[in-house]
Amino acid sequence: MVFAGKTSRSKELYDRACKVLPAGVSYGIRALPPYPFFVEEAQGVKLRDVDGNEYTDFWVGHGALILGHSPKRVIDAVKKQLPYGTHIGFSHEHEIELAERIVANVPSAEQVRCCASGTEANLYGTRLARGYTGRMKMLKIQGGWHGGYDSLHKAVSYPYTKSESAGLNPKTTEDTDAVPYNDLEAAKKRLKTREYACMILEPVMGAAGFLTPEPGYLQGLREVCTQTGTLLIFDEVITGFRLAPGGAQELYGVKPDMTILGKIIGGGFPIGAFCASADIMERIDQRKYPKAEERVAHGGTFTGNPISMVAGCVTIDQLKDGKIYIDIDRLGKRMREGLEDIFSRGKIPATVTGVGSTFAIHFQSRIPRNAGDCAKNDMPTTKAYFAHMLDSGIIYLSPTVSHCWISSPHTKEDVNAYLKATEDFVKSYKP
Ligand SMILES: Cc1ncc(COP(=O)(O)O)c(C=O)c1O
Repeated sequence: MVFAGKTSRSKELYDRACKVLPAGVSYGIRALPPYPFFVEEAQGVKLRDVDGNEYTDFWVGHGALILGHSPKRVIDAVKKQLPYGTHIGFSHEHEIELAERIVANVPSAEQVRCCASGTEANLYGTRLARGYTGRMKMLKIQGGWHGGYDSLHKAVSYPYTKSESAGLNPKTTEDTDAVPYNDLEAAKKRLKTREYACMILEPVMGAAGFLTPEPGYLQGLREVCTQTGTLLIFDEVITGFRLAPGGAQELYGVKPDMTILGKIIGGGFPIGAFCASADIMERIDQRKYPKAEERVAHGGTFTGNPISMVAGCVTIDQLKDGKIYIDIDRLGKRMREGLEDIFSRGKIPATVTGVGSTFAIHFQSRIPRNAGDCAKNDMPTTKAYFAHMLDSGIIYLSPTVSHCWISSPHTKEDVNAYLKATEDFVKSYKP
């Protein structure tokens, strides 16, 4: 049955939500057409809405839930912590335990500071890069999404020339420049001026649909950043602990100067973190830099929240023997290859991107190299595919750019059901 025919209670909640929440949602990306379904229960990779419909979730909490929804070991650990303090506001052992796990796994991390979100981690991480280098300019990637922090909220949407938000003071973005992903020469040209504090990028571009780096690209950026005294920052909010315990830097063998983390390291609770060598991180240390103007400020009420720390530790512990990566990467490969096969036999031009447990579909005949190429995706087909998958009980976001993650509770049957629904779409779709 089509979505609107089976979601009357969700429609009621949506009408109620619209009175108190702008667009009826807490985050614009969740405003599904024609209206969002409202989830009553989330277990593993299955969502049950308030009308009793079930969906297989390939969005898994914005990619944060590598173990799926409500994993037992995380729930048990959180329950154990709850009576000892939900928000302590002083030092406790769990913050050391999470930092130790990050340092043990992430090649570029010697020291860590946690925040409450990936946005905050990017704010503080880039502030640290500016404080450490004494330079103010920053280079990012066109289409790169690093959260809502003003200075990085530039050149996010095609054609990358307009303001990304009303109310965004242009002064906060005037020192930020952007170049296309996978274009080493464009980055080199900028960085050789030696004016940039940092080059920040996602090593695999999540927001554009998991575009992967061409051979030599990340290595080339590493070299030019070293030559020019620019800090190379990998925003691994998505890829950290997703592509490997050491993230994309482990997978591609390129060590950045600083890493931004989030999502998975919170085990389903709010988190962000930035980490780097002790030499860089000590700029935050008030014992070494007692003067405010020399020290980089970082803090926050919920930093080091014990629930996020405990949930993050249990999650990382389950990932460390590597078995989960073998399983989810195998399913990811099966999915990408299955989709390529279906599209190669059908009449709709489409390509598939992604690596490991990630995948995305682009309705165009060329594999995109960068976010600008993704702007050429056929939008009516992209939206029709989303609506078809939703009617088939399969959910991901967004309706205009697919981001799909496979998590440990996904099964071969879930992948087969996704492929079958795609095959049905390819056979029945009339542009
Ligand atoms: C690469 C990347 N960086 C930063 C962020 C922002 O993280 P948060 O939404 O936790 O603020 C996101 C969020 O999706 C992201 O994908």
